[in-house]
Amino acid sequence: MKELNNKSGRAVFGSRFAAIATTVGSAVGLGNIWRFPYEAGSHGGGAFLICYFAFAIMIGVPVLIAEFIMGRGSRSDAMGAYAYFSKAKGWKIAGYLAVLASILITGFYSVVAGWTLEYCVESMFGMVDFSSPEAGHRQFLEMTAGWQPVVWTVVFSLCNFYVLARGVTKGIERVSNILMPLLFVILLVFCVHSFMLPGFGEGMRFLFYPDFSKIDSSTLLGALGQAFFSLSLGMGCMITYSSYFTDKTRLGQTAMTTMALDSAVAVMSGVIIFPAVFSYGFSPSAGPTLVFEVLPNIFYRMAAGGVWSTLFFLLLFVASLTSTISITEIFTSVLTDQYKFSRKKATMTACGIGIVVSILCALSLGPCRSLAIGGTPLFDVLDYVASNILMPLGGMLCSIFVGWVIDRRYIREQLTDNGAYPCRWLRPLVFFLRWVCPVAILLIFLDSSGLI
Ligand code: PFF
Repeated sequence: MKELNNKSGRAVFGSRFAAIATTVGSAVGLGNIWRFPYEAGSHGGGAFLICYFAFAIMIGVPVLIAEFIMGRGSRSDAMGAYAYFSKAKGWKIAGYLAVLASILITGFYSVVAGWTLEYCVESMFGMVDFSSPEAGHRQFLEMTAGWQPVVWTVVFSLCNFYVLARGVTKGIERVSNILMPLLFVILLVFCVHSFMLPGFGEGMRFLFYPDFSKIDSSTLLGALGQAFFSLSLGMGCMITYSSYFTDKTRLGQTAMTTMALDSAVAVMSGVIIFPAVFSYGFSPSAGPTLVFEVLPNIFYRMAAGGVWSTLFFLLLFVASLTSTISITEIFTSVLTDQYKFSRKKATMTACGIGIVVSILCALSLGPCRSLAIGGTPLFDVLDYVASNILMPLGGMLCSIFVGWVIDRRYIREQLTDNGAYPCRWLRPLVFFLRWVCPVAILLIFLDSSGLI
């Protein structure tokens, strides 16, 4: 199969399904299955869910559409898109920030993805000891502190390289078309299983019954940050992917579908995890270790637990692979567009740098604890800088750029395919991009920097 190219010679996704599968593939990842349940668990369940939905619709969707307008309009990478719409050199900085964020995120994301691969393979061979919560905890600590995470991170990164090196249509599109439906099937199997657990009712009440007294500023800001991370916003990822959309792809519809499916996966992860947590007497607010320590422990008590555990970590692996592909594609496309690298050389450079950074992150948690800044391991530093500073900043810049710099008529053309269909929400969209999104994002930014 040859790469499909549009008139400008740029690769394009071959179908509407592919546009959705790839953007959903990017959005659905560790953020939904690993991060969402522990965030919801620590912030009051149903109350968090409601805030998360509100932000995903009011902030996430407008910023997602803004990234789509920049990417499909310019048919360029995250750096080139700013230069396409504005001659002011200052906006190029937003492009550099996006590339920097993508490299830092690759570092810690690939390490967690490496853990999922390790748990998947070890569950398959019955090598995971979860006979008690203490055994599970010990195993997790030993695993993250040793050399294995380095090896598994490299194995994971090679899978990522393999897909990216095959190109946009033969690699990214084909893999997303196959893996995304598979991911939904595995999720459904787990949801059905969850339904049969004794703690199903209690788990559902925790996830869906909103106790409004639990909403405080940390719930609001946590939910906004989660919506942002989960929709892959603020680092040019959706600019890059939408630059491969066809002229006929409907941007508003694609953004709504992506948000709906992404949120559905987050909710399904809650439906899988909370009944299990309540059935066996764990605490829903166990934090980041919820998935890695609590769940395998639960699988251990189930009939054919090894199979369930393998399947669950396979699900996490698939979700993290399609997201990592999209993160690395940001830098790859900058190298091919701006620096005229061949696809092969660009992929090798982007993945090579990503592997080095992720090895350093994995080492910082175990064998080389000196890889730290101010006593905090490099892994946590990169997570903090990318998720709490660079992503909100990038999202705010993109929202301001599309709201204030790009001509409203151009936005209308992009949203209506040159007037082929109506768009009644142009005014509110521009209002949100100009005012609501930047102010809300500024609030998360100030909160996560400890300034408010
Ligand atoms: N959205 C992904 C997740 O929920 O795991 C993470 C992510 C992917 C963040 C791509 C940023 C990005 F550019």
